[in-house]
Amino acid sequence: MTDNELIDISEKAQSVAYAPYSGFKVGAALLTSEGKVFTGCNIENSSYGASVCAERTAVYKAVSEGYTDFSAIAVTSSGAGITFPCGICRQVLNEFSPDMRVILCEKGNEPVSFMLSGLLPNAFKL
Ligand code: THU
Repeated sequence: MTDNELIDISEKAQSVAYAPYSGFKVGAALLTSEGKVFTGCNIENSSYGASVCAERTAVYKAVSEGYTDFSAIAVTSSGAGITFPCGICRQVLNEFSPDMRVILCEKGNEPVSFMLSGLLPNAFKL
């Protein structure tokens, strides 16, 4: 699975994002160490706090099916530039795979990638 392939899958997930309040659509494609891909999109709610980000949708789908070891996540959005995962999503990803890669891409450009540990230094762990 190449970074570009994972970005393509994320863009497909982004197309079904439910974001009527912000108008900001996000997609995610989470690659497990077994090579399986789980997708996610942001799902907003009229009670705003009940909304969930694309990255967490993908993580919760994977964990609920027994996959907890991740090697990478691709994130795309309808916004300008690249979209970095929010702090809560970084923390949720870190719970499972601190050494995973985070692949980000602005539409039409080449992907760039970061280590999660670099995006969430000195992460909290119980
Ligand atoms: N959002 C994500 O899905 N992922 C992020 O990492 C940042 C923000 C969503 C949440 C909300 O539905 C919309 O983008 C605007 O904040």
